[in-house]
Amino acid sequence: MSETAPAKRGKFSSRTGFILAAAGSAVGLGNLVAFPVMASKNGGAAFLLVYLFFIAAICYPVMLAEVAMGRKAQRNPVGAFLALSGGSRRWHLVGMLAVLTPFMIAVFYSVITAWLLVYLRELLGGGLAMLAEDASFSEIVARPSIFGYLIALLAVVFVILLNGIRRGIERLARVLMPALAVMLLALTIFVLTLENANAGIAYYLVPDFSRMNLAVVNGALAQAFFSLSLGMGILITYGSYFSPGDSIAGSTRTVAIADTGIAFFAGLLILPAIFAFDANANTEELSTSSVGLIFSFLPKIFLSMEAAVGYTGASIAAVVFFTLVFFAALTSLVSIIEIPISCWIDEWKLSRGRAIVLQATLLTLVAIPAAMSLGMSDFFTSFISYGGESKSFFDLVADVFYETILPLVGFSVCIFCAWRWKLSGLTAELEIGDPGYRGSWLHRYVDFSLGTIIPAVLLVVFLSTVYQIYF
Ligand code: PHE
Repeated sequence: MSETAPAKRGKFSSRTGFILAAAGSAVGLGNLVAFPVMASKNGGAAFLLVYLFFIAAICYPVMLAEVAMGRKAQRNPVGAFLALSGGSRRWHLVGMLAVLTPFMIAVFYSVITAWLLVYLRELLGGGLAMLAEDASFSEIVARPSIFGYLIALLAVVFVILLNGIRRGIERLARVLMPALAVMLLALTIFVLTLENANAGIAYYLVPDFSRMNLAVVNGALAQAFFSLSLGMGILITYGSYFSPGDSIAGSTRTVAIADTGIAFFAGLLILPAIFAFDANANTEELSTSSVGLIFSFLPKIFLSMEAAVGYTGASIAAVVFFTLVFFAALTSLVSIIEIPISCWIDEWKLSRGRAIVLQATLLTLVAIPAAMSLGMSDFFTSFISYGGESKSFFDLVADVFYETILPLVGFSVCIFCAWRWKLSGLTAELEIGDPGYRGSWLHRYVDFSLGTIIPAVLLVVFLSTVYQIYF
């Protein structure tokens, strides 16, 4: 192929291929751990209702907008903002933010995923009791052997990505997503048969509206947005691999339902598990930090199964759960690393192979200080101080790009689609493969809200998060 002719853009093989890949991205640590705990602490079914409302009323229209932008532009986020704005410099910068964000999220997400591998390795060697000890997490994350796991993990991820959209990303999701669903179901059924499980179900599902306040509502929206992988440039990029003949509204709806369904089921697993083994569990004490929960709290829950099913049985349950979490993290990690790669390919006209080598180098360079942030290096461990706390380099990246920026990128997507690309452009794109879209209730709602209430709400979430974290 000549230098100037653009390489043929990869495509998902079918609607199902897109749905599985996008669900693979969406289902992650947030669904399996953060959601169940947030829901149970914040009023159970009452929280669930608020969450569902936000998924439908705020997040779903943003999903449509992101996928439509990508399909129309046939580009990564930088190229999409640039092309659809007719070359505006200001929107070009927004596009860069939408690529920098996934780049940085990948940095600490790969470190967390490497920890999961260490935990799996320890569990397979009979180390459940050791992992359940309080000091274990901080000991493990400071081990220099983490680098070996990190490099091995990144090698696997980049080999998957080298295989391209269909044979790499999509094939991975086709294998891992059904496996994840089956394992989740099996483990949930097992836990629900245990004594005291009912107390957990009640705690999870009985609505308690007295817990609702502004912070909870804010948290529910942030979690919904994050869980659907919005504001990370992922759906813009995946939209560019989406077939022109399929309905964007229909496919993204299935992704949203699958993502929410998995989060809900994870709650049916985690809460009853907590109560079954500690009937007086004080869930107030649970933090919603996924990292703390997965690595410090969950091994304790599994260890407490020992009385019922023996040490081996408890270890097996823990291995199944950590494998499931690892699968969810791996498909999310692959999806997020694809975004900068697609940017290097489109904007710098690199071959896929070269873009992958470039991205692998950059990611490794930034991931190493992140991995050294938890005790290995004093400089990176006490890197900076804000909000009255000393923070590591890892914390800084996570706070800025994971906790804060996403609603801002989402806000920009809404303003861009409604006011720059214009609703007529969006509607024309959403109509392709979906003749019923124009004039539907959904169409009317999107036209009404995408340039008004949705960005306003996202801006409020952004500002209140900034206030909470940094001041
Ligand atoms: N949606 C993912 C989750 O719920 C978030 C995520 C996606 C994180 C992609 C990293 C990469 O955990």
